[in-house]
Amino acid sequence: MNAAPAVRRLRVTAALREMLREVDIRTRHLVAPLFVTDDALLASAPADLPGLARVHVDEVVAAVDRLRDLGLRGALLFGVPARRDEDGSGAWRPDGVVPRAIRAIRTAHPEFMLAADVCLCPCRLDGSCAVPGPDGPSDAATRPRIAAAAVACAQAGASLVAPSGMIDGAVGAIRSALDETGSGTVGILAYSVKHESALYGPFRDAARSTPRPGARTGLQLDPANSRDAIREVDADVAEGADIVMVKPALSNLDTLARIRARHPGVPLAAYHVSGEYAQIRAAALRGWITERDVLLEQMTALRRAGADLVVTYAAEALAGWLGA
Ligand code: PBG
Repeated sequence: MNAAPAVRRLRVTAALREMLREVDIRTRHLVAPLFVTDDALLASAPADLPGLARVHVDEVVAAVDRLRDLGLRGALLFGVPARRDEDGSGAWRPDGVVPRAIRAIRTAHPEFMLAADVCLCPCRLDGSCAVPGPDGPSDAATRPRIAAAAVACAQAGASLVAPSGMIDGAVGAIRSALDETGSGTVGILAYSVKHESALYGPFRDAARSTPRPGARTGLQLDPANSRDAIREVDADVAEGADIVMVKPALSNLDTLARIRARHPGVPLAAYHVSGEYAQIRAAALRGWITERDVLLEQMTALRRAGADLVVTYAAEALAGWLGA
């Protein structure tokens, strides 16, 4: 008589379960978003969610000290400037809030991984990620501005620059600009797959980058599309992306797995976005779920789908639970 396939015997003891665990989430996989501002009022305003607090540029080194003490290796920096202008010049000026923060952190922490979001939306009066053209957002007009922003961050000491605006050709334009200005060792973390999602609300409040309704419809991917997402990844990899990122995270487990299989050599990041964390947080505050357990389960699922790194607002909390 054939024995029934018995797979459960491998789960009987904790020791064997742990030895056979296929993936895990460690503090070294986590990237903490860090919002920096030069506006004293914004810096002192309470945050809607942990991890979404704005830090004054003069205090940013202390914030990184804290991340480092928890064992975190890197952060993704967003600028929330007090002043904006029509063109978004704060994105590429060397004295913009993000380059200033990077210089300060880099002096104190030569080894810390600093990725800088490069987009025009926090710096433009209209909150748009792209320069408007006669037929909608203009990739051609936006590219040189994004490339200049990347150069400013690289020269300040960024490890990676992260174009987040879904601008066609941005990765290639940034790569050339970095190489031509002596920043050949600075890498590109490409937001290759960014769906037009209803889960970005808390971020937009924190970054003050709420667009007009529909303003990003033509830029961001339709959440129904995974083949489209693969084309974006292929293009970014061909243009020189060093790491490709997908967001939101949990609604893209299929896309993560496809990218992992298609580009086995390319490091992959998942961005667990503000609305994903907000759902967990809100339910946990009501006592309906346990924040720690749900976060660990979701982070593990992202690793299983193929993510090397996870950007998460819960990075500090997770590092506290996981240890250095
Ligand atoms: C903007 C940007 C957004 C996020 C990261 N960069 C918002 C948007 O696209 O409107 C969202 C991240 C989050 O919700 O946590 N360039």
